[in-house]
Amino acid sequence: MAEPTRTAKLTIDDKVIELPIQSGSIGPDVLDIRKLYGQADVFTFDPGFTSTAACESAITYIDGDKGELLHRGYPIDQLAEKSHYLEVCYLLLYGELPTAVQLSDFVGRVTRHTMLHEQIHNFFRGFRRDAHPMATMVGVVGALSAFYHDSTDINDAWHREVSAIRMIAKLPTIAAMAYKYSIGQPFVYPKNSLSYAGNFLHMCFAVPAEDYVVNPILEKAMDRIMMLHADHEQNASTSTVRLAGSSGANPFACIAAGIACLWGPAHGGANQACLEMLREIGTVDRIPEFIARAKDKNDPFRLMGFGHRVYKNFDPRAKVMKESADEVLGLLGIENNPTLQVAKELERIALSDPYFVEKKLYPNVDFYSGIILDAMGFPTSMFTPIFALSRTVGWISQWKEMIDDPTQKIGRPRQLYTGPQRRDYPDMRHR
Ligand code: SDX
Repeated sequence: MAEPTRTAKLTIDDKVIELPIQSGSIGPDVLDIRKLYGQADVFTFDPGFTSTAACESAITYIDGDKGELLHRGYPIDQLAEKSHYLEVCYLLLYGELPTAVQLSDFVGRVTRHTMLHEQIHNFFRGFRRDAHPMATMVGVVGALSAFYHDSTDINDAWHREVSAIRMIAKLPTIAAMAYKYSIGQPFVYPKNSLSYAGNFLHMCFAVPAEDYVVNPILEKAMDRIMMLHADHEQNASTSTVRLAGSSGANPFACIAAGIACLWGPAHGGANQACLEMLREIGTVDRIPEFIARAKDKNDPFRLMGFGHRVYKNFDPRAKVMKESADEVLGLLGIENNPTLQVAKELERIALSDPYFVEKKLYPNVDFYSGIILDAMGFPTSMFTPIFALSRTVGWISQWKEMIDDPTQKIGRPRQLYTGPQRRDYPDMRHR
């Protein structure tokens, strides 16, 4: 971390505490409070981490007011237009865009790690067929550390590198197997002759009974969806991975923890909840009823796919996703998709409603993604697994950055205790 740029003075009772202020390369400065408790015997209090920087990172930067997302400095809209998912994986992992030789080598390494140990197939058979694919993924990814002992020593740089490649390579295979298992179809092995996105589509939709040819329109849309979900600063699931990793847990266990956190409807589960909401709305004339519910403080209903902790302007990913939805559904000849029409009208009405304008609630990455995935043939239960496999590179990149940080220590927050004062144990007759 750079040297402090200036100092803040905090007065508590009759004591003045000086706290250094650190600056990053872009974005808000930070008040370094690491010595606060020792100097002033007080904690800071920020349960949702709305004003807390939990770490230093050089991977992704979000400007919530400008609606800007940078991966190692490159804007997401430029990457979405000019790059592809595995190249963005390289960028997130190693910090720079690859040369042609570096990219070819990286793609080759990922491609040759896409298969799973055959015995892992047995894990799937222990689940009910109607298990949510996210439940299966949490279980199977956590179990990988039982198979890949040769890449779980977090203190070995080669182990860290191999486990990163293995995770990026195997998550699509695991997600596709979770899907196949849920619909009672046989697992489809990876095909190294296909692209990363094409291979995932093939593993999900091919059947032994006939040839499956990857549709290039869907392949490009799948790759773009993966890219738009790759990393996003210190969101809830990434923070979960970092906290799990801070104890020295193996990378497979850390990613399993990230998958579990992502599942929540306030986070990665919103893409499934959003499409189900759009289907429940059904027709444009019912939108006002749902807008009213979203504004009603006595109704827990929220517009899924709307709002964001950081973005107080348009989520740049939602903008790209909306363009992709128009393009894909147009190319598939289903531009009159009723769900897309409801989504667009809901967005238009919400963005002209003072409630949403004042609270700066805009569509986020989950608002349009489900429409594209639905048009590709995925059930809503596969939306969050696709988010999880796409975010794996972000989780593992942030995990590696944390492990490589020489100042890294176990994360152990404190609390504001409001429970009973000390009291003695009463005999039963005195209760
Ligand atoms: C992701 O962090 C990341 O980067 C996440 C993510 C990533 O890539 O990792 O971007 C992925 O998780 C996107 C978000 C997906 N979740 C949803 O779409 C679920 C619906 N949205 C929310 O529940 C909510 O907006 C959050 C969880 C996304 C953000 O919540 P915050 O920042 O804690 O904001 P808040 O709950 O304090 O809301 C602020 C106000 C509240 O009103 P008041 O109490 O101030 O009167 O806005 C209201 C909320 O009631 N509000 C909404 C709303 N979201 C917030 N009202 C209606 N509909 C909504 N969707």
